[in-house]
Amino acid sequence: MSTKKGNEKAEKELLWQSRFAEPFDREALLFSSSVDVDKALYQEDIRGSIAHVTMLSEEAIIPVEEARLIIEGLEDIEQEISSGALVPEWEDEDIHTVIENRLKEKIGPIAGKIHSGRSRNDQVATDTRLYLKRMISELDAALGSLKKLLVEKAETYRATIIFGYTHLQRAQPISAGHYYLAYFNMFHRDQERLYDLLKRVDVSPLGAAAFAGSTLPLNARRSMELLDFGSLFDNSIDAVSDRDIVIEFIAACSVVMMHLSRFCEDLILWSSSEFNYVEISDSFSTGSSIMPQKKNADIAELVRGKTGRVYGDLLNILTVMKGLPLSYNRDMQEDKPPLFDAAGTTLSCIRIFTRLLSNTRLNEERLARLTAGDLSLATEIAEYLVKKGLPFRDAHRITGRIVTRSIETDTPLPGLDLDAYREFSELFGEDLYDSLKPDSSVNSKKTHGSTSFSSVEEQLRNAAAKC
Ligand code: ARG
Repeated sequence: MSTKKGNEKAEKELLWQSRFAEPFDREALLFSSSVDVDKALYQEDIRGSIAHVTMLSEEAIIPVEEARLIIEGLEDIEQEISSGALVPEWEDEDIHTVIENRLKEKIGPIAGKIHSGRSRNDQVATDTRLYLKRMISELDAALGSLKKLLVEKAETYRATIIFGYTHLQRAQPISAGHYYLAYFNMFHRDQERLYDLLKRVDVSPLGAAAFAGSTLPLNARRSMELLDFGSLFDNSIDAVSDRDIVIEFIAACSVVMMHLSRFCEDLILWSSSEFNYVEISDSFSTGSSIMPQKKNADIAELVRGKTGRVYGDLLNILTVMKGLPLSYNRDMQEDKPPLFDAAGTTLSCIRIFTRLLSNTRLNEERLARLTAGDLSLATEIAEYLVKKGLPFRDAHRITGRIVTRSIETDTPLPGLDLDAYREFSELFGEDLYDSLKPDSSVNSKKTHGSTSFSSVEEQLRNAAAKC
């Protein structure tokens, strides 16, 4: 810890040193210090300390006047850190020590009362849960903006026909609105997943002390209320020992990243000249330092690439926790690098992806041209025959032969004349050609949640209600 003001630099003091005759080895301290990472928790740490001290004074464990001094000191320290006047340094071991040592410099030995009935074990568990609540709410807001944009896109392009793919082969024509709403539903579930997790995160561990409780008459319920937690731990060992919520949170982030990554893959493919279905605006494209014609989708590629980091974070924390004996172990300090990385990466990816997507447009003219003559209308022919009474397996076989004819004669399916169709089945009539238009193909879908314009309208209304 260093302050820019004067020569206030205090003797470095670790919180646990009194029982040792020799100072802690500097290399060992450097190795074990977590300040560089956990300084990101300074606001949560100060908030937790203020609640704890308030509770201590209300329960007459410390005098009201001393609590006031401690709280004022903590509020000043928050200012000092946020303004950059106080720079946390690694020698202080962790952010809890930075703050407590600075408090001692400011108000003297009564600063030590802050830790009455508390351990860094319940302190760090509290900080982590407060941080998770903040990040869940930021991710929720970012996903909300992305969902709104997807509804707008679906609205704009609901009558635009694109290819739907399976196995990355053109499969059937669909409404572009249907496509955007598929992603809407995925991001909606991601939001729900985070929200479901919130009830398990929103539990106060403060008052568990090291793990076994305290001889002081702590009022853990009051600490919980002061910190706006929804409920209180049941078991003090569990309160400090588990990181399952960190695992669940990173798992939820991983699913968000998987969805983003798939969407990015579509954008990358569809913006290539082979597909050329999507135009990414210049402001979201990069060029090549050697090939002047290049227009690359780097932002989408980076989001796809960063997905690997978040998956790595999940495996990291799962492995850290595996096989740890109860209760607290120092290994658990290693939860924060993957937690912060996953939360920060996922949040920035949702935000930048939303900006990227709003800077794309579909190449409607080309899509209309390509979908009009494509073999992806073949399912329409098969279903036409089914409607005329043929078993689907026979209809499929007949249509397969028609497709072969279309390929061999280099004639699009709507271009083959009725005589040609009737060579394959007497059931074909003039009305076949109505179903061989992409928009009538889309519109003839009858089933729930399908791509027909009326179904997409209904899905749009449902989506708008979930925004
Ligand atoms: N920096 C530690 C962590 O993040 C704080 C808890 C330290 N507790 C202990 N018993 N050494 O886990």
